[in-house]
Amino acid sequence: MATIELQNVVKIYGAKVKKNSKEIPKGKRAVDDVSFQIPSGSFTILVGPSGCGKTTLLRMIAGLEDITMGVVKIGEIDITNLEPGDRGIAMVFQNYALYPHMTVRENIEFGLVNARIPKFEIKERVSEALKIVGLEDYQERKPANLSGGQRQRVALARAISKTPQCFLMDEPLSNLDAKLRSEMRTELIQLHQKLMSTFIYVTHDQIEAMTMGDNIVVMNEGKIMQQGTPSEIHNDPNCVFVAKFIGDPGMNIIKVDEKYSIGFRPRDVQFDSEKNEKEDAVFVKTKILSFENHGSEFLYLVNFDTTTAFVKELSKHNRKVSSEISFSILKKDMYIFDENDNRVYDQEKIEEAYGTFKTHWENV
Ligand SMILES: Nc1ncnc2c1ncn2[C@@H]1O[C@H](COP(=O)(O)OP(=O)(O)O)[C@@H](O)[C@H]1O
Ligand SMILES: [Mg+2]
Repeated sequence: MATIELQNVVKIYGAKVKKNSKEIPKGKRAVDDVSFQIPSGSFTILVGPSGCGKTTLLRMIAGLEDITMGVVKIGEIDITNLEPGDRGIAMVFQNYALYPHMTVRENIEFGLVNARIPKFEIKERVSEALKIVGLEDYQERKPANLSGGQRQRVALARAISKTPQCFLMDEPLSNLDAKLRSEMRTELIQLHQKLMSTFIYVTHDQIEAMTMGDNIVVMNEGKIMQQGTPSEIHNDPNCVFVAKFIGDPGMNIIKVDEKYSIGFRPRDVQFDSEKNEKEDAVFVKTKILSFENHGSEFLYLVNFDTTTAFVKELSKHNRKVSSEISFSILKKDMYIFDENDNRVYDQEKIEEAYGTFKTHWENV
């Protein structure tokens, strides 16, 4: 196993790249100067909104798409120009890409026969892969006679049989219904633990990202916004985009003035708090615009000066739409962002933004 490394990777669809030319091709960058490392053995999630370049990036790692500029390495080896079959990588697609006229077993065997693996070894590998995904009793069936979840498992077994160093998966669960999707998530986490290989998993679903990955790469408009563990991404976002994208719902962002915005998570508010002048907090009294019952908690949309915010409360109260609600936001639960939507870490600036916010809000 080895670390996968991307160095200044760019993709411009349709760009003609002249060999050994320093000329930078023009055009829209589907992937825009991306550099990061994928730790060996990690369950890495590439997450971001639709169209941000996730599939393009994954296909470049797989070798299914030309790299316009930049380098992809596995360990010390530059694989930028290697054929897909020589990269030690297996890809699982959203639509499974199974051959309809072949049985489950034949679908898995096919790639191995092409790779000129000896017959006895193919038999062994296919049986092992079928066992891992629990499809031993289905090997003579055709894809048409399988459920969506079973087809997904065949696609997984096919990838497993190639014994790759790295599995690439592009939204593999998006065609499954909610219940099956959540079961398959658990299975994939277990599969990762069993195989100990590197997984790179693409999704637009931040919940999937947060629950499955140990290393999350957040993308937007072809760029990497932040990389970290789920708790780093959630608790320490480096920009407004990540703060709003992660969470259900994401962070509230309130503009303070020309320079700053403050953010707070819907759950990071204190209810039933009397206004306390001594505490480092901003006291908010406002109205409920709408609410959702989430079982163990309620999610309220409330007025927030000229905008709105979400707050979450354990569901012991029976609050009504249009009724008053008050809470305070502790200073320590606030995140400050600058005019370019980047996180502010400078203590003096944090104080300045907090001061302006508190003064303004308490005079609303
Ligand atoms: N084959 C292609 N030719 C031209 N543009 C493409 C092609 N595939 C994707 N794109 C464009 O590249 C951008 C990134 O697409 P994609 O990688 O599919 O994003 P994601 O997987 O995050 O939804 C989008 O603007 C998309 O329209
Ligand atoms: Mg995609």
